[in-house]
Formats: sequence, C-alpha cells, structure tokens
Amino acid sequence: MPNVNLTLVQGDITEQAVDAVVNAANSSLLGGGGVDGAIHRKGGPEILAECRSLRESRYTEGLPTGEAVATTAGLLQARWVIHTVGPVWAKSEDRSELLASCYRQSLRVARELGARTVAFPAVSTGIYGWPLDDGARIAVATARSEGEGFEEVRFVLFDERSYDVFAAEV
Ligand code: AR6
Repeated sequence: MPNVNLTLVQGDITEQAVDAVVNAANSSLLGGGGVDGAIHRKGGPEILAECRSLRESRYTEGLPTGEAVATTAGLLQARWVIHTVGPVWAKSEDRSELLASCYRQSLRVARELGARTVAFPAVSTGIYGWPLDDGARIAVATARSEGEGFEEVRFVLFDERSYDVFAAEV
C-alpha cells in the first residue's frame, strides 16, 4: 500500500488553501446546488466561463460520470478547480466503480497539473444520495491507493457527522 498523506477537516471546500479543490459537479458543468453552487458563487464567473468553453469544445455531450476536468479556480484561494461528476446513488445497481473513478480521475488530473495538495468533498453523498459510510469507504480507499506522490490529499467534510464517518475510515 503506498504511503499517502490523507487528512480530514471539517469545513467548507471553498475555503481551502490547497493547489486544487474538487467540485462535485454534474455533467452539464454549468453549476448546481451543494458544493457546485458554493464553488461557482465564491469563485466568480471566470470558472463558469471556462466550463462553458469546455462544453463547446471537448464535452459537447457533457462531462461523463466518473470523469474529471480542470478549470481555473477564479477567486478561490486554490489555483484549480477539478470538476468531477459523481454517480447518483441507485439501490438496484452497483455504481461504486464510477464513484471510485471520480477520485482516481481527479487525482490523475491534479497530478498532470502539478498540484501538490488536493482537497475533496464527499462526492455524491449530498444531492446524489450516496450513503455516507459507503461513500467515505470508497473515497478513502481510492485516495489511499491512487494518491501517492501528493504532499496532501485532504477530505473536507461539511458537518460533524460526515467528519466522524470519514474519521472511522482513515
Ligand atoms: N464544502 C464542503 N462540503 C460540502 C459543501 C461545502 N461548501 N456543501 C455541501 N457539502 P453535493 P453530490 C457536502 O450535494 O451529492 C449539485 O447540484 C454535502 O453535505 O454538493 O455529488 C451538482 O450540480 C455532501 O456530503 O454533491 C450536482 O447536480 C457532499 O458535500 C449534484 O449537486 C456532496 O454534496 C451533485 O451531488
């Protein structure tokens, strides 16, 4: 198992002083609620402008679930936002591999950008309905196996309950 510096903080993803913050986006890349809404609100219109141009060039059909793409971070402290699209939770179908892919692909993009520190929210565990304990297990296991070489891979949990659930996995 590689030696990865995983850290946890309770807080707001938009306030992290890291190289790259990951956005729990949707395939339109044009904004939404939750983390996505907060990032666009605080990061300003430059992020949306880059998202729009990605939709017109590389992702005319939208960013597929499980993939990741970077834009500027606008007014955020971070240098880049890495947008990834988590799967919507489904009881009838195991979409775990797609959720793991979000973390794996985001770390790949971060590595290509030269980011040393990356902060993730708990992708899919809000509006997309993924059970928090399972989302935490997949997040931690994937970051642990794919996060080698980063100075820090940080999980930012919005409330105490999600912090505690992640803490049990780390
Ligand atoms: N900082 C850190 N974590 C947060 C923040 C924040 N500012 N806000 C919410 N969370 P969600 P999803 C937590 O819904 O489930 C959007 O409309 C939240 O408590 O942001 O992947 C997109 O456009 C939860 O644990 O993302 C998509 O349509 C976690 O972050 C859809 O929501 C993820 O919640 C994506 O849904």
